Amino acid sequence: MQDIRFGGDYNPEQWPEEIWLEDVRLMREAGVNLVSLGVFNWGIIEPAPGEYDWSGLDAIVELLHANGIGVNMGTPTSSPPAWLRKAHPEIRLVDAEGRTLAGGSRHGVCPSSPAYAEACASIVDKIAERYGKHPAVKLWHIHNEYGWANVECYCEASATAFQGWLAEKYGDVDRLNEAWGTAFWGLVYRSFDQVEAPAAAPPGVNPALRLDWKRFSNDEHVRNYRMQREVIARHSEAPATTNFMIPNCEGMDYRRWAGTVDVVSNNHYLIAERPDHQIELSMSADLTRAVANGPWMVMEHSTSAVNWQPRNIAKTTGELRRNSLAHVARGADGLMFFQWRASRAGAEKFHSAMLPHGGTDTEVWRDVAALGNDLKKLSAVVGADVAADVAVLWDWESWWALELEWRPSVDLKYRERVEAYYAALWREHVTVDFAHPEADLSGYRLVVAPSSYVLTDAASKNLRGYVENGGHLVVSYFSGIVDEHDTVHPGAHPGALRETLGLWIEEFHPLHERESLSLDSGAAGRIWSEHVRLDGAEAVARFASGPDAGRPALTRHDLGRGTAWYAATALDAGTGLDELLATAMDAAGVERPQGVPDGVEVVRRGAHRFLINHTGQDVQVPGAGVDALDGTAYDGRVPVRAGGVVVLADA
Ligand code: GAL
Repeated sequence: MQDIRFGGDYNPEQWPEEIWLEDVRLMREAGVNLVSLGVFNWGIIEPAPGEYDWSGLDAIVELLHANGIGVNMGTPTSSPPAWLRKAHPEIRLVDAEGRTLAGGSRHGVCPSSPAYAEACASIVDKIAERYGKHPAVKLWHIHNEYGWANVECYCEASATAFQGWLAEKYGDVDRLNEAWGTAFWGLVYRSFDQVEAPAAAPPGVNPALRLDWKRFSNDEHVRNYRMQREVIARHSEAPATTNFMIPNCEGMDYRRWAGTVDVVSNNHYLIAERPDHQIELSMSADLTRAVANGPWMVMEHSTSAVNWQPRNIAKTTGELRRNSLAHVARGADGLMFFQWRASRAGAEKFHSAMLPHGGTDTEVWRDVAALGNDLKKLSAVVGADVAADVAVLWDWESWWALELEWRPSVDLKYRERVEAYYAALWREHVTVDFAHPEADLSGYRLVVAPSSYVLTDAASKNLRGYVENGGHLVVSYFSGIVDEHDTVHPGAHPGALRETLGLWIEEFHPLHERESLSLDSGAAGRIWSEHVRLDGAEAVARFASGPDAGRPALTRHDLGRGTAWYAATALDAGTGLDELLATAMDAAGVERPQGVPDGVEVVRRGAHRFLINHTGQDVQVPGAGVDALDGTAYDGRVPVRAGGVVVLADA
């Protein structure tokens, strides 16, 4: 049985060697079994072009190995050395306003730069050659957070690469003109080299151009990853990953990364000031599981506060454990932190660490050591699936497209609706999977589409087939409006869902800022209203006020063996969203855990049930089994202390 991987980023180059011995002793004490090394050490191991100094890295790899701690070997390409920027000024990142960004930080490089790619290939080759067969190296950590600060570059090399990418995608410039609808404003191109990168421009830039630019920018990072992966494969058989930022890096479409990594790993930091930040954590974990199509690992999270939010709120007692075990509950087979020992110098000295500035006589250290100990008892969950019979649709392309300029309302925000529906399900203790609109949905009793603005013809057919075959689909407004080029589907809105929903929209009626309206069911809506015309569906509730008073607001359409539901306004928790979802879940036969107190997260993973109490009260949760951490057997009611976690193994 494989243990849960446990550890963090380790940056020994920031410390004198005598500290390394203490580090390794404490790592063993805490049960650390994997550390990420060399994520940012390019300037140290290659002090001048072609000159290498391996002394520190060699010594630390041997020390870790001798102590049974595995190495997740980094490639340091997200922080190129100063000499490279000086020798090749053309690698510097150019932003949309045409400013060339200075050095002194990390990431400020153009992802399309040939000189940068060549330097990456060279240093990665040297590292892989030196450590590729070392038994300590268990995993490769390629780059760091692709797209963190350089998703897009607007230099000449990038523009040229974009033209090449378009030529490959469309073959013929007329196909591009057709796909992009360039007859509009006569924005026709006669050759690929006439296409410009969408840098700062007058308003109304062709949205299809913007979407392809986003796809291209994503793909340039994938290209760099693949190149590094191939170089490593020449020297090593160890698996490789790169740390994603799901879902907080809007510029990366992680669906387009499918199949690139051997292990999906994710970095997640609480948005500390959000009162419901534990729900956002769960959403990130569920979405990461969808990208991985199974188990995955946390590559970075924090023991307590970060240093880059407006107010860096420290974790409260027990929160480190709750956060960590919530990730494990939702599919994580590894829990790593940024970072092992708090840095004294540099930009991140106020960031928490496994070993804080205060040392071992601290709550953080005690919690870290206790967590490492607990994880050893949870090896049985490694590889196990998470059970869900509800799916929420997620698509980065809808996110991108919905938030381009000149939409019917600035209040149309992709994550706003997804999070509203996700949170309502979370509060009902319903575990969900995320799924792409073109994925096989037949395993789900209920599918929720909170914000599917873009739906391709294939997705439209898929959703219709899902309902006809007995599925239940809940759709929120402004879904199914356009195809993958941001072109409106033919006929009335919502073209991709008209037949499935049994209705059409005569006109959108976005609301004023902070305006709300009521429904005759007692529900309330925000943001949106529209003139719904029924064509097969029935009205479950009607608008009682607002621009569409008297017209359908919530509808239901029985189609084939299934049912499609529609909400024509923004419902929220406490104003109708819970009721809509409860009605759909009842109709779909979705079973919800009964008798679980509010604020308690309940997730089944394989033969284990995780009970996570986010409240300040001791609670009891119905259930039976054996506490996997302390061996207590329960039959009927399981006590979970205020802020505590119980992992229950099936008896
Ligand atoms: C991540 C990054 C780490 C560290 C961390 C701090 O974005 O990968 O290197 O900077 O943030 O929270």
